[in-house]
Amino acid sequence: MTDATRSSALDAVIFDLDGVITDTAEYHYRGWKRLADEQGWPFDRERNEQLRGVSRMESLDLILGDRELDPEEKLALADRKNRYYVESLEQVTPRDLLPGAHELLMQCKQAGLKVAIGSSSRNARNVLDRLQITDLFDAISDGNSVERAKPQPDLFLHAAAQLGAPPARCAVIEDAESGVAAALAGGMLAVGIGPPERVGAAHLRYDNVAQVRLEEILAAAARR
Ligand code: BG6
Ligand code: MG
Repeated sequence: MTDATRSSALDAVIFDLDGVITDTAEYHYRGWKRLADEQGWPFDRERNEQLRGVSRMESLDLILGDRELDPEEKLALADRKNRYYVESLEQVTPRDLLPGAHELLMQCKQAGLKVAIGSSSRNARNVLDRLQITDLFDAISDGNSVERAKPQPDLFLHAAAQLGAPPARCAVIEDAESGVAAALAGGMLAVGIGPPERVGAAHLRYDNVAQVRLEEILAAAARR
């Protein structure tokens, strides 16, 4: 990155974690699948796709559908799934960084941009520690930081505030429909990772993180 490509329109890039930096979606799936099997509920990978970027309790509600349970029971079920998920995180190592994720982070930093995590997960710090990239971030906003989950913009606005960056000068990299909606609601540049039917509302879209071009993000920010 040269001075010429350095952005004057962008101060910061906020990264979603699950599905952008690492593929923990598989571990979330296995946790929910184990719980669903134990409870005798139908659940498969296709239904799991609806849970991308969705908070823990909202995920449980989606799995439950019409089944009505009292709040304490739901909390116990969500806790049980979380225990399974946290157990599976013990396997996570730096090798689980998605291709291109570390490179993109470093490019952002070299370009003088601030970088933050904006993840719905309450386990985000644990995952970052296991990936050994916690120290790279200027701010971490996670499922503990705000009340209202994506698609509300609160999490990304929290990250921007921690960075001291105006929302309009932030880009968000997201793999979930709800995350793209949250970025747009926050007035940020949305970069979608995944198929058009999922993240097509974003300003820019790539099939995977390895294809992301920082120059294109900077150019899109300059055009806004
Ligand atoms: C998001 C995942 O990052 O975090 C969702 O995409 C998950 O699948 C959500 O439900 C909440 O995670 P956690 O770790 O707080 O249960
Ligand atoms: Mg995600």
